[in-house]
Amino acid sequence: MAARSALLKSSLAKKYWMSLTGLFLCLFLIVHLAGNLTLLKDAADAGPAFNAYTEFMTSFPLIKISSYLLYFSILFHAIDGILILTRENKKARPVNYASNKAERNSIWASRNMGVLGTAIFIFIVLHMANFWFKYKFTDIAMDPGDLPDMYGIVVASFQEGWYTAVYVVSMIVLGFHLWHGFESAFQTLGINHHKYSPIIQGVGRFYSVVVPALFAIIPIYIFLNL
Ligand code: HEM
Repeated sequence: MAARSALLKSSLAKKYWMSLTGLFLCLFLIVHLAGNLTLLKDAADAGPAFNAYTEFMTSFPLIKISSYLLYFSILFHAIDGILILTRENKKARPVNYASNKAERNSIWASRNMGVLGTAIFIFIVLHMANFWFKYKFTDIAMDPGDLPDMYGIVVASFQEGWYTAVYVVSMIVLGFHLWHGFESAFQTLGINHHKYSPIIQGVGRFYSVVVPALFAIIPIYIFLNL
C-alpha cells in the first residue's frame, strides 16, 4: 500500500513538473515569436531589426539566465514525458480493451502526445543546430551595423524548399501538441474550476492555432518573397 501511494505521488509530481515546464515553454514561444516577426518587415528593415533582436536575446544577462532555465525545461519536459508514457503503457498493456475505450473517449492529439512531442524534440534539435549553434559557436559574417548577421543565415535556410517544408510540418505537429497540452497542463495543476475552464480552453485553442500558424508564415514568406 505504501509503495503504491509513493508511486502515485511520484506520478503526480512528474505530471505537475511536466505541466509547469510546458507552460514555461509556451511563454518562451510568445517572446521568440515576437522577435521572429521582425523577419516579416520590409527587406531593408528586417535585417537590422532581427539581428538586433538576436543580439539582445543572447547578451542581456536576465535573458541569458532564463535561457539556461529554457534548455533545462526542454530536456526535463521531454524526459519526464517519456517516463510518464512508459509507466502508463505498462499499466495499460494487460487490459487490451482499455486502449480501445481510450480511443473512443479522447481526441487523437491526446493519445499521441508522445509521438508529437518526439517530433517536436527532433525539430528543436535540428533548429538549434542550424541557428543557435552557428550563432554561439561559429564565426558568422557581420552586418553593416557590426552585429552578427543571423538574418542572412535564416533567409538562406528558408530559401531551401525542404527546410521550409520541415518548419511548416513541424508547426502543424506543434499545434496538435499544444491543442491538448495547454488545457491539460491547467487541469494537472488543479486550475480547472468550471468557472475558468471555458476560458482556459478558449485561450488554449486560440494559442495552439495562432502561435504555430504565425511561426509557419515566416519561412513561407521568406521562401516565396526573398
Ligand atoms: C520561423 C520560425 C523560427 C525562427 C526564424 C527561429 C529562429 C531562431 C534563431 C535565429 C535562434 C538563435 C538566436 C536566438 O537565440 O534568438 C533561435 C533559437 C531558439 N529557437 Fe527558434 N526560431 C523559430 C521557431 C522556433 C520554434 C517553433 C521553437 C520551439 C518549438 C524554437 C525554439 C528555439 C530555442 C529553444 C532556441 C534557443 C533559445 C536560447 O538560446 O535562448 N524556435 N531560433
